[in-house]
Amino acid sequence: MTANTFNIIRKTSILIIGSGAAGLTLALRIAPLAQVTVLSKGDLKEGATFYAQGGIAAVLDPEDSLESHLEDTMAAGVGLCHRDVVEHVVNRSAEAVTWLVGQGVPFTTKQTKGNKLLSSSTGASNLSSLHLTQEGGHSSRRIIHATDATGKAVFETLRKRAQAHPNIKLLEGCTAVDLVTQKIENEPEDVCVGVYLLNQKTNRVEAIRAKFVVLATGGASKTYLYTTNPDGASGDGIAMAWRAGCRVANMEFNQFHPTCLYHPHAKSFLITEALRGEGAKLELPDGSRFMSKFDGREELAPRDIVARAIDFEMKRLGCDCVYLNITHKPTTFIKEHFPTIYSRCLKFGIDITIDRIPVVPAAHYTCGGVVINRKGETDVRNLYAIGETSFSGLHGANRMASNSLLECFVVAFGAAQSIAEKIQTTEWASGISPWEEGQLRASADEVLVSHNWEEIRRLMWDFVGIVRNNKRLNRADRRIKLLREEIRDHYIKHKVSNDNLELRNLALVSELIITSALKRKESRGLHFTQDYPQTDRVAEDTILLPKP
Ligand code: FAD
Ligand code: SIN
Repeated sequence: MTANTFNIIRKTSILIIGSGAAGLTLALRIAPLAQVTVLSKGDLKEGATFYAQGGIAAVLDPEDSLESHLEDTMAAGVGLCHRDVVEHVVNRSAEAVTWLVGQGVPFTTKQTKGNKLLSSSTGASNLSSLHLTQEGGHSSRRIIHATDATGKAVFETLRKRAQAHPNIKLLEGCTAVDLVTQKIENEPEDVCVGVYLLNQKTNRVEAIRAKFVVLATGGASKTYLYTTNPDGASGDGIAMAWRAGCRVANMEFNQFHPTCLYHPHAKSFLITEALRGEGAKLELPDGSRFMSKFDGREELAPRDIVARAIDFEMKRLGCDCVYLNITHKPTTFIKEHFPTIYSRCLKFGIDITIDRIPVVPAAHYTCGGVVINRKGETDVRNLYAIGETSFSGLHGANRMASNSLLECFVVAFGAAQSIAEKIQTTEWASGISPWEEGQLRASADEVLVSHNWEEIRRLMWDFVGIVRNNKRLNRADRRIKLLREEIRDHYIKHKVSNDNLELRNLALVSELIITSALKRKESRGLHFTQDYPQTDRVAEDTILLPKP
């Protein structure tokens, strides 16, 4: 071992990378059976989950039906959703909500006090008391929520439960670097036996040995200049799985949310689709409405359609934003349903009870990801992927609103079951080689990292955005290959840092998005290209195979 080789090796039965809805749900479901360690590269809350606003799709209204949720999801996904997976997830929505209510998530109920809607831990027997709101693509009210801060309510409840569980260890400030896989004699597939991670407190790379490793690392929307996502959404799980030999699918379908607040100081702030569900209208600067020109469902058309319509109108008029107007609703209604949005906008001088809200589309959700089955199992044995980092087949060419959190819970349930079935018969791997850093030094030229980071995100926004064409995609492809070479060179010559790890992953995932977009010779859902405006009769996934 050289002087700079770090050999701190910990051991845990199950290692979950990511402390969002998917990771915490799996941790809580499997903890009665085994020791679980959950990693988060930043603060535990810094995933997309904490910021989720609208809610969770679930069939709870007696007037609604599983069939209708299924058909709406299939329609939003423009023929590319896997019907069996949609059925599987939709059929378990009530089970997921029952579990969440049982954990104590304070969802908004129909009961009111004075004029105020109440939020409470209602108890599992009382699903019919939950208030349901409406979002784009859904033909019924079927979104349960905690006012307009559903993710925060879910995250805080699950985090408290996890912190109190004797079998769960939560580690903040630990960035997974790469998966450790081993060949097994006479077996065709590799097995995952652990992870190298950067401990940000010590600035050292450590190894964790595990029987099962789970990627719950969220999406990759930070590949785009403007996004609703928190900073850590750099696609780390997708990049690590790809390097470990997993297939990755449908990366061209990055969803743009139609309504992100447009204000110079409002970084990434989403204006929930539930606003449109409750009657808000989209307007041009002159006050005229425009959605009826694009779709009969107007403001409640699926997201790909609304985002493209806004993009079209902004380019046509050369304006910086369009406007969302809910001022026709009573002030008490607005404050009661959307307290977070009301107070955040007010900080920027926008009183949403009397002012229109300036909005623009922004990158929001990664529909593609690591190929999994319904139990979250990947191509590498004992490696799972759950939540936004995965590709289960649920979302097709465009995810329907509030189906993402639902998928996090349902697939985490399946992964817990799969791990429970295997844990007794799964052996510990013999060991993990220590991480070799040799004589590497920290980079003294961090501008190289920050410049490349900005360049990639602008490149993706300009050339691989809402409307694409071959010329832009080919240009993006040439640029990203050059950038990846530079980034690789910098990476191997310096000690790892959180920034260069994220940049390396962001660059790889951007290349996977561009490659996938170039492969699709049609327009479908979120992938709209001027060179192939038609939608093919047969819908096929874009599956990328890792190089041997
Ligand atoms: P996340 O919640 O994103 O968590 C990822 C975790 O992985 C974090 O803990 C992060 O620190 C960790 N991580 C990542 N990389 C590493 C690494 N290398 N090492 C260690 N840890 C790592 N969906 C809905 O269904 N309904 C909604 O109302 C809704 N609203 C949304 C609003 C906003 C503003 C956003 C951004 C998204 C919204 N979505 C919504 C989408 C949904 O929130 C996400 O898809 C979902 O929360 C993803 O959960 P997750 O557990 O997969 O990942
Ligand atoms: C929103 O509240 O508009 C986001 C919902 C989602 O992304 O599913």
